Amino acid sequence: MILAIETSCDETAAAVVTAEGEIEANVVASQADLHARFGGVVPEVASRRHLELVSPVVVEALAAAGASLADVETVAVTTHPGLIGALLVGVAAAKSIAWARRLPLAPVNHLHGHVASLYLKPLDLEPPFVCLLASGGHTMLLDVTERGGYRVLGTTLDDAAGEAFDKGARLLGLGYPGGPALDALARQGDPAAFDFPVARVPGLDFSFSGVKTALLYAVRELEPQELEAKRADLAAAYQRAIVTALVERVRATGADRVAVVGGVAANSELRTALHDAALAPLALCTDNAAMIASAARYVRAVPYPDYLSLDAQASA
Ligand code: KG4
Ligand code: ZN
Repeated sequence: MILAIETSCDETAAAVVTAEGEIEANVVASQADLHARFGGVVPEVASRRHLELVSPVVVEALAAAGASLADVETVAVTTHPGLIGALLVGVAAAKSIAWARRLPLAPVNHLHGHVASLYLKPLDLEPPFVCLLASGGHTMLLDVTERGGYRVLGTTLDDAAGEAFDKGARLLGLGYPGGPALDALARQGDPAAFDFPVARVPGLDFSFSGVKTALLYAVRELEPQELEAKRADLAAAYQRAIVTALVERVRATGADRVAVVGGVAANSELRTALHDAALAPLALCTDNAAMIASAARYVRAVPYPDYLSLDAQASA
């Protein structure tokens, strides 16, 4: 059994997963409400909350799996990329648990974790495939030929797709995190009511700053009453532009086996547009520890006690 901990952003998560990729427990404590009044994640607030939540979340995951620490064979933790203070809480917790029981510790890259959400049962996807990873922090096209890694084909030149959703939602007064709220509002609107730009940068890279600025100007030009009446249309047109950009890039790879992971993979329009792709299960799109445990199965675990010098890293 693998016990995994994920604290890279504003979700404190722990999971118990078997070596075969069966999820025994997957506990996520979201801090979204805590950060909502600031309109985004406040790193220092996130770190402190992780500190309060990490032990209870681990205890809850073990209980939900009907397991105890004695059943754990490997501890896994997200070491990078993410908010450095937030990552450090998870890394310290994982080191302590592993060290106390003389267990090996597997350091996991958060992005590899998102891809590995596809390797859990029952989906159990086998490479090769091209993977669209779209989250709040990253937007990438990955060439995946084996479960242990991937090659980056394209990435965003500015904002991540999830960030574009969150910033757009904020402009439309939808609060934080805005992706799911914008998705819901867009369903009541007409995507053809506004013509927002779809960036076509060379190669397989993405850009979302233009569409964000276009929404800002559109919102500014409307009188308050008009804005209220057009909010759903704005949301629908904005979402359409982001989804079109993502789908166009996926199609541009020419790949016939495609997979989609990350928080934005939960978007209903994207899921419909890429219905022929392998879509990460909804519960595994946004940050969780089951995907970290899954990735740990393909990472070389560091033996006791060598990992005491292991560090978290903000960058990828
Ligand atoms: O993967 P994730 O939980 O965290 C990062 O690693 O960044 O992704 C979170 C992002 C947020 O930007 C959130 O607004 C977005 O995923 N998101 C969505 C939806 N659900 C979550 N964006 C669009 N539509 C959704 N339904
Ligand atoms: Zn993530």
